[in-house]
Amino acid sequence: MKRIFTIALMLGWVVALHAAKPTMDQFVDDLMSRMTLQEKIGQLNLQVAGDITTGSAQDTEVVGLVAAGKLGGVFNLKGVDKIKMLQEAAVKRSRLGIPLLVGMDVIHGYETIFPIPLAQSCTWDTTLVREAAHIAAREATADGINWVYSPMVDIALDARWGRIAEGGGEDPFLGSLMGAAMIRGYQGDYSGTDNVMACVKHYALYGAVEAGRDYNTVDMSRLRMYNQYFPPYKAAVEAGVGSVMSSFNIVDGVPATANDWLLNDVLRRQWQFDGFVVTDYGSIGEMTNHGLGDVLHNSAMALAAGTDMDMCTTGFLNQLETALAQGLVTEQQIDVACRRVLEAKWKLGLFDNPYKYCDARRRARDIYTDSNRRAARAMAAQSMVLLKNAGGTLPLQRTGKIALIGPLANDRANVAGTWCVAYTPERYSTLLEAMQRAVKGKATVTYAQGCNLTADEALQRAAEFGKTIPRGDDATMRREALEVASQTDVIVCAMGECADMSGESSSRATLELPDVQMSLLKELCALGKPVVLLNFSGRPTVLAWEQEHVDAIVNVWFGGSEAADAMCDILFGDVNPSGRLTVTMPQCVGQVPIYYNHLNTGRPVATGDSVYHKYASNYLEVRNDPLYPFGYGLSYTTFAYGEPVMSAPTMALNGSVDVRVRVTNTGACRGVETVQLYLRDPVALISRPVKELKGFRRVELAPGESREVTFTITPELLQYYDGNGVPHLEPGRIDVMVGPNSRDLHSTHFDVMQ
Ligand code: NOJ
Repeated sequence: MKRIFTIALMLGWVVALHAAKPTMDQFVDDLMSRMTLQEKIGQLNLQVAGDITTGSAQDTEVVGLVAAGKLGGVFNLKGVDKIKMLQEAAVKRSRLGIPLLVGMDVIHGYETIFPIPLAQSCTWDTTLVREAAHIAAREATADGINWVYSPMVDIALDARWGRIAEGGGEDPFLGSLMGAAMIRGYQGDYSGTDNVMACVKHYALYGAVEAGRDYNTVDMSRLRMYNQYFPPYKAAVEAGVGSVMSSFNIVDGVPATANDWLLNDVLRRQWQFDGFVVTDYGSIGEMTNHGLGDVLHNSAMALAAGTDMDMCTTGFLNQLETALAQGLVTEQQIDVACRRVLEAKWKLGLFDNPYKYCDARRRARDIYTDSNRRAARAMAAQSMVLLKNAGGTLPLQRTGKIALIGPLANDRANVAGTWCVAYTPERYSTLLEAMQRAVKGKATVTYAQGCNLTADEALQRAAEFGKTIPRGDDATMRREALEVASQTDVIVCAMGECADMSGESSSRATLELPDVQMSLLKELCALGKPVVLLNFSGRPTVLAWEQEHVDAIVNVWFGGSEAADAMCDILFGDVNPSGRLTVTMPQCVGQVPIYYNHLNTGRPVATGDSVYHKYASNYLEVRNDPLYPFGYGLSYTTFAYGEPVMSAPTMALNGSVDVRVRVTNTGACRGVETVQLYLRDPVALISRPVKELKGFRRVELAPGESREVTFTITPELLQYYDGNGVPHLEPGRIDVMVGPNSRDLHSTHFDVMQ
């Protein structure tokens, strides 16, 4: 009897507990019923809290705004102490105690810095990318942050655009997978103290700015949006991303931030996005420059179009009441935006515990740990792309004399890359230090800087990290480098861009090695010794001369805090290179934008055609082929492909078909090959690309080992969108291509049947 009573009591508690915990809707309904109009508008305001500048705004009187209920979130503030102090102001001093979102540009790691996102995509390894994002989330949350402005999934075809460094390359299929992996890594299911809310950006088309000039105009057909540029944003929504950042640019003439079609129709109605939209830095204010009107009108237009939170303009905070009084917006529109911001806070668990991310003990436990650093080093090595290796120049032997030359060889500021908000370069190794460790006393390493980063001192000083590279007299430095190099067996050059020559506001009009570096490289090559170039870059650069004259080239990108050791892992063969390009590398800047999944045109020229054709689609002075195609990358071993075989000659419109290919390691060491599947729909209702990546598999093979790789082709992989976003697939032939990159492919085909 007593037992029954106890059970009944316990059940009662369970029921009562259940009843006590409201659903998200009930909670937000109740909270909003107690909010004034001003408090609702306050939730839509996002301001910088002061630690880091990523735009032009000055520090704001943040605590005052928080206490007055005039702030929904802050960003660019780090450290549990400071963030806890602000959360306390929100919880204890504002009337309703609503906690804050605390955002940060955690772009490629936090204190343990991973390779720049473009390099991450060159791993072709979504598991690794997801894990890197999770580590970044763990570190950021240990420092108080609960919202990260990542991933950037803007497709970019133009290497001049510096922000190509921040994305997953030129391909919508791969870019979608990379973005989704990052989102899953950041957010998990929001339940852990190491989960943050992700913010996919920049919606939409920011990567298509004309001439690669940052913040420039974008103009594009809807067909192209849906088929080439939208897929990664859509994939982010499908991966459950909590927030979306609108882009600076116009879309169909209207800034993205106030574009009703983009936000309300496509993002929310077609893709069913149910999170909140934040503007980019000051985007509402910039609408005036775009020619849309004053801040009152622009704030109203942005809200009505589906923007929920205003980053830094204070247009929502200061104008929405007037806009409401003038009938430019409705109270319901303010309510909807406020609800979405509150829902984000609810999803993060901030109403249950506003200090969820304010555990000061976590810093020592979770940040820049050995295991995090090991993961970053492994990923950095996996992201580097071996572009050329004549006569097996690499890997280097740990014997003899090695010359290490170049402005990036003995600098710790630049290894990490463009966007490191919790950057502690004093803890990173320079390449010189890492190399001295790596040779284990069995070889000698002699170093000379050799030249300035660039002859243009003002440019070097303008690039944040360029400032750390010493300046000297180029002629003197060159003499010294040639002297050093002439006494060694092999020359390793650490050259290229400094970290801030890519990233935001870092567009370039030329893509070659900077002037003085190029002339030094030429003189070093003239010495007749084996030369290895480690090309530091945040974008595809032009390496045409280098491809002809340098023995070995590794594109090392910017590999993060552990990059120096990772470069040595590749140089000395402790890691066999497996990175593959996710961007096409041009022969010269005039070919840009250049990308593998282009349309055929009415007057195509065949790949590999070596002559100019009058009245065909080509250039007078250079052929259409890139220097290195999308998907390209070498290994210290070699792989051979068999012919691809279809499981059936046909596929039903709602069916599937497999393609199988045998891959063999024909070289002398173990290695990883990335087997790539491309498809083409040669006859459709609209012109379709000459090929599109639709599958890939990383396979590790021992020497002599062979493996059959199978890809399943489904209608989802074949369909394309019309200008209204409606998917199509018609019966007919499909070309199937399999191989190691987008150029060197073996083909077969099948038919889609009604
Ligand atoms: C401007 C950049 O475009 C965006 O990517 C970033 O997240 C914001 N500033 C905040 O720093």
